[in-house]
Amino acid sequence: MGKMLCSSIAIGLALLTGPGLTVFVEDLQAQDYFDVQDANNYILNAIQDDYKEVKISNILKDPLKYKDFPPIVSLPKQEQRTLEPGEIPQYVLDYAPLVYLYSEERYLPYDISEFVSNFHVRYENGTVCPGTDEGVLTLQKLAKLKDSDNLYLTSNSDFDTDPEWITGIKNKPNLINGEIKNAPATLIVVDKGNGWVDSYWFYFYSFNLGPFVMGQGPYGNHVGDWEHSLVRFYKGEPIIVWMSAHGGGGAFYYENLEKYTLDERHPIIFSARGTHANYPSVGQHPHDLPYDILSDFTDRGPLWNPEKNYLGYTYDGKHIFPALNNSNPHFVGREWSYGNWLAFKGHWGDQQLPSNDPRQKHSIIGGYKYINGPTGPLMKNVLRIVPCERSKWWNFWSGCNVRQNIKWGVGVESEGYNCGNLFVKMKPKWLKSVFQKVTWGGGFCFIIDLLYG
Ligand SMILES: *[C@@H]1O[C@H](CO)[C@@H](O)[C@H](O)[C@H]1NC(C)=O
Ligand SMILES: *[C@@H]1O[C@H](CO)[C@@H](O)[C@H](O)[C@H]1NC(C)=O
Repeated sequence: MGKMLCSSIAIGLALLTGPGLTVFVEDLQAQDYFDVQDANNYILNAIQDDYKEVKISNILKDPLKYKDFPPIVSLPKQEQRTLEPGEIPQYVLDYAPLVYLYSEERYLPYDISEFVSNFHVRYENGTVCPGTDEGVLTLQKLAKLKDSDNLYLTSNSDFDTDPEWITGIKNKPNLINGEIKNAPATLIVVDKGNGWVDSYWFYFYSFNLGPFVMGQGPYGNHVGDWEHSLVRFYKGEPIIVWMSAHGGGGAFYYENLEKYTLDERHPIIFSARGTHANYPSVGQHPHDLPYDILSDFTDRGPLWNPEKNYLGYTYDGKHIFPALNNSNPHFVGREWSYGNWLAFKGHWGDQQLPSNDPRQKHSIIGGYKYINGPTGPLMKNVLRIVPCERSKWWNFWSGCNVRQNIKWGVGVESEGYNCGNLFVKMKPKWLKSVFQKVTWGGGFCFIIDLLYG
């Protein structure tokens, strides 16, 4: 096991977790899964651990069409499951989203295994985690840092100079098939019982370039950037697509999303410039603050097809099962060589730079220039029963509206307008645009959109 001292938990211990008894097993060769259940994860699962189900009518506004659909279950019982451990169904790949990167994106997707080789690990208090600064850091070493909540991958050299491992500048999608050869996406498939299946596509970028605020910025930069989308299936049919943006995100009916022209089963997602937040449309996307103060921008840059190169897993809340058969024959079994990296629960990038660091800046509106790196995929509530990441079990009716209509970007490149047809016929054009601008920015359309969205 080496001597990874960051572990405060004796490996090989039997832990009492919730109603069941889980035993850590050291010898991964002897079994077909990775154990991600430890004391930290127990906290994560404690909220989730009980058997829980929710009726589809609590999630979709269209109860008639879906009235005969069975409930969605968190941690389904054996007899409610439709997937074998490690089984990635073909339909998950057939309906996998394609992602338009921004045309002038400077921070492209990156391979996590290459990424970590540029780091060592530190505790929150700044002390180097013993052993992680000797030799090259690997995913395998990372996986063994059991008590990893307060750990930060910390750059060995200055990330602020835009080295290749930060920009991923070589990782442009192939123009013919959209594959990024050296940067696999991560696919985690979770059985939600009764024929419901969630497929989570995680997109890793080495760097998040935050937004500019009134000409100042960027703010909220961080090393390491995990974004993701969810396609939720019922009996192999895609029903809902959710996509992440700034810790929140948007849920949509699959049928209303744009599709890939060469294979209309694949929905299309747009990754915003710098922040890589995900949207269903092109244009300017105001978020978090009124009057477009904070905005993301999407367009039709290079088209990434993550299904061509991915690490595939299934997850049952306690164990990660590497895909029995990665659909790309070049990559069959690669999940094993990447090891149990999903067990790492620390931050995938440097801790917020101290305010006396010359690279750090602060403003009242934008906050800090450099903030904490994010946590990884298993910290993103993949056991969720509503499609949104952040809705907790105690308020799962609020805050997760599955939208009937696509939310269009605003601004010059927009291909649609969110405020119903209110001003569509208004003339002259400049007056229309003034009205649209004022109503959108002022929150009027926000309300229209909540009611009819
Ligand atoms: C920092 O935290 C780690 C883990 O809790 C601890 O082992 C170490 O001694 C701490 N360092 C300092 C300087 O307090
Ligand atoms: C599994 O992968 C192998 C090797 O690429 C391929 O020949 C086979 O058809 C795949 N089987 C399934 C069930 O996808």
